[in-house]
Order: sequence, then C-alpha cells, then structure tokens
Amino acid sequence: MANHTITFTLADSATTAVQVPTGTLVAEAARQAGVEIGQPCGGQGRCGRCIVQVTEGAVRRRSTLRLANEDLEQGFALACQTVIEGDVAAFIPPQEKIERRLTTDRVAAEVSVPPTYDYSYTQTVRRVHLNLKPPSTDDQTDDWGRLETSLRTQLGINAASISLGLMQKMSTIVREGKWRVTAVLAVDRGEQEPGPARIVMLQPGHVDEYSPLWGIAVDIGTTTVTLWLVDLVSGQVRAQVAEYNGQIARGEDVISRIVFTGKAGGGDEMRALVLGTINGLLDTACKRVKASPQEVVKATIAGNSTMIHLLLGIPAGNIRLSPFVTVVNQPPLLTGAEAGLAIAPDAIVDCLPGVASYVGADITAGVLSSGLNTAEEVTLFLDVGTNGETVLGNRDWLVTCACSAGPAFEGAGVIHGMRATAGAIEEVWINSGTCEPVIRVIGGGKPKGICGSGLISLLAEMLLTGILDKGGNIPKDAASERVREGEHGPEYVVAWGAETETGQDIVISHVDVDNLMRAKAAIYAGFTLLAEQVDFKLEDVHKILIGGSFGKYINVEKAVQIGLLPDVPWERFEFLGNTSVRGAYHALLDWRERENIKQIADRMTYIELSADNTFYDAFMSAMFLPHTDLSRFPSVSAALSKSSSS
Ligand code: FES
Repeated sequence: MANHTITFTLADSATTAVQVPTGTLVAEAARQAGVEIGQPCGGQGRCGRCIVQVTEGAVRRRSTLRLANEDLEQGFALACQTVIEGDVAAFIPPQEKIERRLTTDRVAAEVSVPPTYDYSYTQTVRRVHLNLKPPSTDDQTDDWGRLETSLRTQLGINAASISLGLMQKMSTIVREGKWRVTAVLAVDRGEQEPGPARIVMLQPGHVDEYSPLWGIAVDIGTTTVTLWLVDLVSGQVRAQVAEYNGQIARGEDVISRIVFTGKAGGGDEMRALVLGTINGLLDTACKRVKASPQEVVKATIAGNSTMIHLLLGIPAGNIRLSPFVTVVNQPPLLTGAEAGLAIAPDAIVDCLPGVASYVGADITAGVLSSGLNTAEEVTLFLDVGTNGETVLGNRDWLVTCACSAGPAFEGAGVIHGMRATAGAIEEVWINSGTCEPVIRVIGGGKPKGICGSGLISLLAEMLLTGILDKGGNIPKDAASERVREGEHGPEYVVAWGAETETGQDIVISHVDVDNLMRAKAAIYAGFTLLAEQVDFKLEDVHKILIGGSFGKYINVEKAVQIGLLPDVPWERFEFLGNTSVRGAYHALLDWRERENIKQIADRMTYIELSADNTFYDAFMSAMFLPHTDLSRFPSVSAALSKSSSS
C-alpha cells in the first residue's frame, strides 16, 4: 500500500509531518505525529469538534455531518471521519483547551482518621523487622529459607510468598543489611490471624517502624481523577490531588470512550491516558511529602465499571451493548506492576467491587462512606457526576439505577464551563429589573469560566428573572444588551471581556442550557423512577445524601428551582463531597470496611432503566424548568408566581 506524507500546521505555525499508508484516518495520522486533536465523542462523527482544514492534497470524507457546505468549500473535514488518499497538508485550528490545574484547597476534603483505625489490626499491610541467621559452612540454608524461618519464628507466619522480581534482588538486600532486613508484608486478614503473607517490599537494615508507610486511595471519575496519599501507620491523609481524566480528549462520556476503544490501539491508548493521569497525580502528591511513588505499597481504586475496565485494559465493549454486561464486577487483587501504576511493583492494587455495567465501585464505595448501608430510615444517595447513579434504601435493602447525565455539571461540554478551582464563577444573582448579574468567583479574582454550582445558580436565576423560559429558551426580545445572538444561537453574557481573566466574554448559550437541562433531566428521571419501582414516595425520604466532587457546593434552593433535586425540606439534604474516594480511603485502612463494600455490592439490586420507555418518558417530562408537572415543585411554583407578579 502506498505511503503518503501528511504535514500538519498548528495554530502557532509550527509544522510536523508523518508518513502513513493510504486510508489512514487524519486523526490517527495526527496521533502518530504527536499532534493533539480532541475527540469528545470518541471519534463517532457526532460532535464535530475534531475539525481540521485540509489545505492541500487528496482526502475522502466518510461523513460530513455537522459541516456546512461553506465549511467543505474551505477544506474543513472531521479528523475522525476523513481518510488520507495522497500527500496532504492540513491546518489544525486551536484546540479547545481543558485547563489542567491541580487541586486547590477548595477541592481538598476534611478527613479525620476513623476512630476505629488500628494499624496493627485493621490494616492488611505492615512493616516488620527481621533478623536472619547469617549462613556458614555449617548452615547452607538458602536465603529464602532463612527469610521464611525468620517470618515463622519471629512472627508466627507459616506461609509466605515473594515475587520473582523481589527474589532477584533478595540476595543483595539481605547482605547489604547484614542479614537485618525490613519487610513490608501483605497479610490475609480476618478474625483468624496471622494468615498467609506476601512480601511486598524488602529493604536492607531496620527502617524506622513508625516512619510513614504509603498507600493511595483513588477515585477514577469519568471527568476527574482524585488521589489521596495516606500514611498507613497513622491513617492520616497527607496529600490530596485531583486532575481531569486524560481520557477526556478521546470522549467526554463513558459511551464515547468505549466506542474509541473499538479503534485500532484505542484500548491501549485509553489505558495509557488514565495511567498517565494517575501516575502524574501520584508524582505530585509524593513530591509534597518528599516521598517516592515507588514507596507506595497499597492502592485501593474506585471508579465506575467502564473506568475500571479501561484502567485494566479489559475490553469494555459489552458494557454498551444489550444485555449490558461487564467482563468483571469484582476484579482480583493485582500488583502495582500488573496494574501499570508507578508504585512499588509488588504493591497491592485493589480495584473495589462494583455491581453492574452502570453501577460501579464508585457507588459501592460511596454508599459505604455515606453510611446509607447502615441507615435505619429510607435514604436516597445521589452521585451527581457524569453518570447519574442513584441508590435508595437502608440497612435492610438497597436498590440502584444509573443514567447517563453527561459531564455538563462538571464543567465539561459547556463552552465556558470549568472545574471548581480559582477563577470559576460559583454563584450568580441576577437583578430582575436590569438583567445585570452579580457574581461570586472562587479565589476572588477575575472570572475565567463557570463551575457546576455556578451553572446551577445561573440557570435558576435566569429562570426566575425571565431570561430563560420554562422550556429552556432564551427569548430574543429581552430588553438587555446581555441577551444577544451568539455563535451558537441566543446567549446571555455573564461577564464582559473587560472584566474577565481571558479578556473574552463569559457567556451561557442556548446549547449550554440544553446540555445542562439534559443532565438534570436524566438525574431527576433516574431517582424518581427508582422510587416508583419500589413503590416509595420521595416526599417520605428521610435524607438525601449527595455525593460527587462538586456536590458540596450546590445551592439546594437553586438546584430544586431548576428541577435537579426533589422539592423536599432543605434540612433533609446532606452534601458529602467525593464519597467515592472517601470510601476507597476507608477500604485502604480497614479490611472490615473492604468486606462491607463487597457486601454492599452483593446485596444491591440493580434496576435497568433502559428496559422499556418509562425512562424516556420521565426524562422528557423533566426536560423543563423545573418540570412539566409543576405540582411536584410547590416551592418553585410559588417562587415563579411571585417573581412574575413583582
Ligand atoms: S466528530 Fe470527530 S471526534 Fe467527534
């Protein structure tokens, strides 16, 4: 097959070229050339955001969806749908940048060590000092035999194992330490102990028994990855870091990412991207405490089922195809090397158990840390994230469902959306007479964008002031220069360019509103249907526990006003922040909590909402602000009549 040269010119005029065979996708050629082209829909030709301009040469467009005739005349093409048929020159427009920032104190959670934590009992790894008998001509026992003897006589451990990698280093380590070594052991815990042990780390000499022993708790969110670095001796969280999941560039939601894995090398690329994010976070967290990632001996990982499959390089294709089954809900224990993490190669990596394709370990871990599994009264747990997962129940029963909400409330998929970090507009008030907004910005400086809580607040204010109608439309006749026709239809200017960090107007467009309404409608439809399935009236719910990294900052009143949350007394709501990483942290510290997560996964009944049309009907009914059935939202109905009469 003939080879062709494709030359890419970037927005900063830099050029790079690569040789590829006939029929190669432009997106694939770009990847080989190291040129970044975002593919938010996973290369399905749906989003139109992987656009490039072919300035020279022969290409064939398989799909021109989302391209106007004049775009085609100017040479524009979708990189994921266009194949190369000759030497080609292409211009890559500036890519929509997802700002990559590390967590601020705002994202950091307050964590206290559970009072039940006992390093010597609830922890499954421990550091021990061993004194091996040196060999002599009278005692030619092998090195491993000496180590086994020492474990047996000093600690009563009768069955131990070691990896080949550590075995290869063992003779050097024991001699360097003059037959005194420090071992980190992973022990099978239960009420009967000590059980069999695996050597996770071996160091020469006796390392201070109470110096930090590092573990990590990780939540792989579709949008954000969060990592807590924990000293397993004290149980304290010593660093908290978070970052956008590097896979976003290859798909904003789980379905797009699964589709992307169907392409040649797609699964490997997805795995490399998330590993890059986790290992980058690990490096940052370790630098903060002056430790090395290689010193981390244990990791517990929570995440939705797709994220866990992609992390482990397990095909995720069946998750999106009926009857929607995973390859594995409860992965076996792995080592750091097997998982591809930059921690100690023999470290324990525990991917926590999930329930089904769309209810993963993020939810089982979240249920544990929220305390729902021990609640006496019926409680609703909502994870407000890219996937709207819901659990209803108490200590006797648990039912769960999931719906795809999309990443809009996490700031992705909204033109000026961003995470809740410095510069994000987090609260908006709009004057009903002048349509002028007052904004509150995280950190107090100039705004750069709007985070999830700001978007909820903005929608509610626009609704109450008539800038938005109940159908989510921005009326063109509004008497304010802030309401105008923009690139994506009608839009409202939240901040003029002169007041912003970037110098550009910060707006919310009709398309953004539509994305946000879809997200809120999916979440609302999910939990109302779940309650109906078990014949439970939502107004009788004892508590509504909200998980999700941005959930903590939601203004309840405004979330109810847009119909995201049910209209029940505010004191029933509790915002818990990232319950998934918190659950992973509990499992990292205590084998009994790890057992509890397994029990939660085993006893949760999963209800598939896509089985019939009821979800679609409930979703369409919720595609209004707050809902087509206003009687479900009496407090909002009253607020709307008050604002229209004033
Ligand atoms: S259209 Fe190409 S990635 Fe979405």
